[in-house]
Amino acid sequence: NPSSEEQMYRPNFHFSPQKGWMNDPNGLFYLNGTYHLFFQHTPFQSVPDFGKMHWGHAISKDLVKWEELTPAIAYDEKGAIFSGSAVVDTDNTSGFGDGKNVPVVAIFTYNDMKKEKAGEIDAQSQAIAYSLDNGKTWTKYSNNPVLKNPGIKDFRDPKVFWDAKRKQWVMGLAAQDRQHFYGSKNLKDWTFLSEFGKDVGGHGGVWECPDLFPIKVEGTNEEKWVLIVNINPGGPNGGSAAQYFVGDFDGKTFKMDDVFTKQLQKEKVAWLDWGRDNYASVSFDNVPDNKRVIIGWMSNWDYADKVPTSAWRGSATIPREIQLVKKGNDYTLVNNPVKEINKYVSKTIKVKNIKGKGKLSIPEAGKIDLTQAIINFNLKNLKQETYTFTLSNAAGESLDFGINNSDHYLFLDRTKSGKTDFSEKFAPKITKAPLEGNQKEAAFKIILDKTSIEIFYNNGEKVITEIFFSNQPFTELSVSLNQETELNNLVINQLNI
Ligand code: FRU
Repeated sequence: NPSSEEQMYRPNFHFSPQKGWMNDPNGLFYLNGTYHLFFQHTPFQSVPDFGKMHWGHAISKDLVKWEELTPAIAYDEKGAIFSGSAVVDTDNTSGFGDGKNVPVVAIFTYNDMKKEKAGEIDAQSQAIAYSLDNGKTWTKYSNNPVLKNPGIKDFRDPKVFWDAKRKQWVMGLAAQDRQHFYGSKNLKDWTFLSEFGKDVGGHGGVWECPDLFPIKVEGTNEEKWVLIVNINPGGPNGGSAAQYFVGDFDGKTFKMDDVFTKQLQKEKVAWLDWGRDNYASVSFDNVPDNKRVIIGWMSNWDYADKVPTSAWRGSATIPREIQLVKKGNDYTLVNNPVKEINKYVSKTIKVKNIKGKGKLSIPEAGKIDLTQAIINFNLKNLKQETYTFTLSNAAGESLDFGINNSDHYLFLDRTKSGKTDFSEKFAPKITKAPLEGNQKEAAFKIILDKTSIEIFYNNGEKVITEIFFSNQPFTELSVSLNQETELNNLVINQLNI
């Protein structure tokens, strides 16, 4: 029944296409007050067609409320339009400008299905298109591709940025099990700069959708470079996920920072998000005030084409602002939901501190529509025990999350959350994010939509993002506590988006 599907599962505020398939966010940029989100899109069916991929298009003034436009770039005889980026070419280095309008240039991968089917290795190449009307309509460059395939099967997802110091464009590209960098003065002619990553980080799957950018170490004037690399499979809880590296970039080579190198010896991989549904996260170009905002595809290649919606499939995460924090000898890329979401809070319930033993119901949550809500709280005086928060409904379904403070991890359990059997890979076990040692206290921010939960732990130090498909909305919240631990500052915010 399509209307009940619409009612039950269409996200309230996470972007999802009206119809058809969506995966990665693409071509993210800001210009003249508008954020542009393009995305991998097969408009005519709700499973991907890798020979007919388009760039879908949506715009937003505030990163929260999205308006979908018609697909921006369609496949053609050279191939499907795979993932990539877009840059605002303010100085018209590309020469695409007409003297009146700033050109925006999209850089994407052509995936040539005929070649792929014939087993030819060079099916993927990089191409460009430009827009002179703020991203509305696009013209493909007549001399595409601008970067031919050098004989690497997986050679895709160009992310381009303006390297102001060296006055050059830099393209980061996923080349199977590593990263390639190319440089250009005009976005049309590209020269190889360097490669990175063959022997470091996660290699449980192919590298995809990279993103390199400079970022200040929080609270200092020191600049570091962060390289996000998505991988599929090989994520910390299975399937697709995003990792990152911290280092320096000299215009040619990305080199890992010494402190971060030591950190990786301990942790092996630095994960951006421990949940199963935040993939292909990359950042927006040209955002004011040097803010670094990322957005991901809220699904996982393990089961994305089987989730129980039929009119459309896929949505985006809440956009997140990221910061690089150095604490002791560790770097952390901290993620937090963009502040703009707070202006949609229509009602706030503050719950007085809760203490007690066993499973305690929080009746105030029942007064809020939990399919669009933000819940904040702190736990004080934690013991070596497990603290479980349970969202539940009258159908006996539940979503559990919390902190296991004896084995030291944060967790999310969707195994009893409703429809799970559409794929055996969807909910075989609970999702865990390791925590270092005993936690004395903990802070949570939870963002809820109809089919998603995003957990921001300790101000975004650890994140878990996952989707779920309950048969009825969750309407109740409870917590299991012991005698000593206190649940403080519990604030339940109604969103109205
Ligand atoms: C990542 C990805 C990209 C590719 C696109 C195809 O999810 O596999 O590497 O460009 O999706 O839709």
